[in-house]
Amino acid sequence: MTLRTGIFGYPISHSISPPMHQAAFDDVGIDATYQAWETHPDTLADGVNKLRDDAYLGANITVPHKQAVMEYLDEVDDLAKRIGAVNTIINSDGRLLGTNTDAEGFITSLKVHGGVDPAGLDAVLVGAGGAARAAAHALADAGVATLTIVNRTLDRAEALAEEIVGQGVSTRAIGLSNSEYASACYEADLLINSTSVGMLHGPAEDASPVPEGAISSRIVVYDMVYNPPDTPLLRAAESSGARIVGGLPMLVYQGAAAWSLWTDREAPVDVMFKAAQQALGL
Ligand code: ATR
Repeated sequence: MTLRTGIFGYPISHSISPPMHQAAFDDVGIDATYQAWETHPDTLADGVNKLRDDAYLGANITVPHKQAVMEYLDEVDDLAKRIGAVNTIINSDGRLLGTNTDAEGFITSLKVHGGVDPAGLDAVLVGAGGAARAAAHALADAGVATLTIVNRTLDRAEALAEEIVGQGVSTRAIGLSNSEYASACYEADLLINSTSVGMLHGPAEDASPVPEGAISSRIVVYDMVYNPPDTPLLRAAESSGARIVGGLPMLVYQGAAAWSLWTDREAPVDVMFKAAQQALGL
């Protein structure tokens, strides 16, 4: 029997997950497919229910279903509950388990590509949306010392900061136009952009979400935007002498973590990386 996996999203045609996961199955010789399942919110429940069949290993979930899908699952783990989003479903003998591998993808990529363990560091996180929530909880779990959350809409930064304080991290929330933003960046060890600023065809394609001159040479700058690979933020960070990490490693490692949960095997990360780069035309 050919096993099945795939991703629920709406729209989903631009996802690079299908070629990335398919390359991994093909590389290790598992007879399985990974498909893009464009699914309207009205039909999500039916689509997810089909995963209980023996043929399905599980699935990934992306925008706009990461929250809504929770009610259709038998179990959601603690991390996904805290983040408020499920990106991976595992079919365990007909029971559907939800988890979130974005946090692991973020921390692993930070360690492997940024060369840093966030334990004890001072971090600045720009953004307070879904991607920021995964990063903030991952950083809290990894033992970051302080976390400054900067967001255009201050309320969202404050709400997220309050949750993270509950995890024992010293936090601060500030607005994007606050004059303390630049000094917070300059003094940090780690600066992460989780907004869509700088994204190809995004709301501010040619902009950096970080004030000019706010990046010191001793920090690591992480941009979750993966297309283009050289965002205005990463270019500015590079010219400041900072170490940089783009968004593609996070995408690959969150995928690798999901793939391992479905197959009980170590994922061929290099193969997935190459397939993702190829799918992006890099
Ligand atoms: P995702 O799931 O990718 O995190 P999201 O939940 O919509 O997407 O969050 C988008 C983030 O990018 C938010 O922090 C958003 O700021 P607001 O909370 O103020 O909306 C931020 N963002 C999007 N466009 C932006 C822009 N042009 N300038 C600054 N921040 C922006």
